[in-house]
Amino acid sequence: MKFRFALAIVASALVAFTGTAVAQQPIIIKFSHVVAIDTPKGKAAEKFKELAEKRLPGKVKIELYPNSTLYKDGEEMEALALGSVQMLAPSLAKFGPLGVREFEVFDLPYIFDDYDELHKVTGGPAGKALFKKLESKGLIGLAYWDNGFKILSSNKPLKLPADVRGQKMRIQSSQVLAAQMRALGALPQTMAFSEVYQALQTGVVDGTENPPSNLYTQKMHEVQKHAILSDHGYLGYAVIVNKKFWEGLPADVRAGLEAAMAEATVYANTIAKQENEQALEKVRASGKTQVYVPTKDERAAWKKALVPVHKEMEARIGKDTIQAVYAETGFKPD
Ligand code: LMR
Repeated sequence: MKFRFALAIVASALVAFTGTAVAQQPIIIKFSHVVAIDTPKGKAAEKFKELAEKRLPGKVKIELYPNSTLYKDGEEMEALALGSVQMLAPSLAKFGPLGVREFEVFDLPYIFDDYDELHKVTGGPAGKALFKKLESKGLIGLAYWDNGFKILSSNKPLKLPADVRGQKMRIQSSQVLAAQMRALGALPQTMAFSEVYQALQTGVVDGTENPPSNLYTQKMHEVQKHAILSDHGYLGYAVIVNKKFWEGLPADVRAGLEAAMAEATVYANTIAKQENEQALEKVRASGKTQVYVPTKDERAAWKKALVPVHKEMEARIGKDTIQAVYAETGFKPD
């Protein structure tokens, strides 16, 4: 009897001990992304970690995995659904394969003239409506993070749309981007971001498009002789979490993370433009890629070649979504 009593005490002490030990473990949030740390997204992720861990000391630990070190494109969405990673910030061009084709509205050529127009969408009802669509896929959109406007690069000089004809151009997994390249007479090749440098180096593809920050930090400028400041399209991100995971967090933790995310988002969207300007300067200074600035007429020619993609992709993206974005930005296709 005495022995059983002693055993019961030991057992309950053990339960109490493990219970406390478990309660003291911080919640681990793995945040995976595909770009370098020294980019708008890489820096914003670092900022989020710093702010979240400061707000919730001992309660959360944010583990950052930049540069496709944990998952690459094509793997990370599945990993999020399975709970192997808790937070991602994929480019808005990567939601089509998930079945949320409306996000490809962000890929339409020339739909935003500048960051101010973009922010009207990401900070307004159209941006909210897009996030709502993620919920049926088991995801929650926490924030839109900026990157920048894309430049086209190749080993051949690029001045006019005809210069891209026949070239194999790497794109992200967006049907709008595929249509955009076809409109130029180029051959679109969808490929994970982590593979682009090597594909350019070995000639698997001839060229690509990205904001300067991505071009520079992946050293693509070392394997591309020419680029044009076409600013023909935008590339930015949605920070997403698994809905079940997020809603299962203790309320105080979720609130703290939301506040940290709001602050990190202000930071992200403040630094993006400058980060890209600085990266472009570094590309120029390297002397490896000649950066061409199109004239007004050349720019008009690119626009003329690419704007028909809006109409072509209307059925895929949805007329309502496109019109909602036009309403915010004042874009007129003709
Ligand atoms: C790309 O694949 O080119 C970009 O989406 C990478 C990124 O996350 O900026």
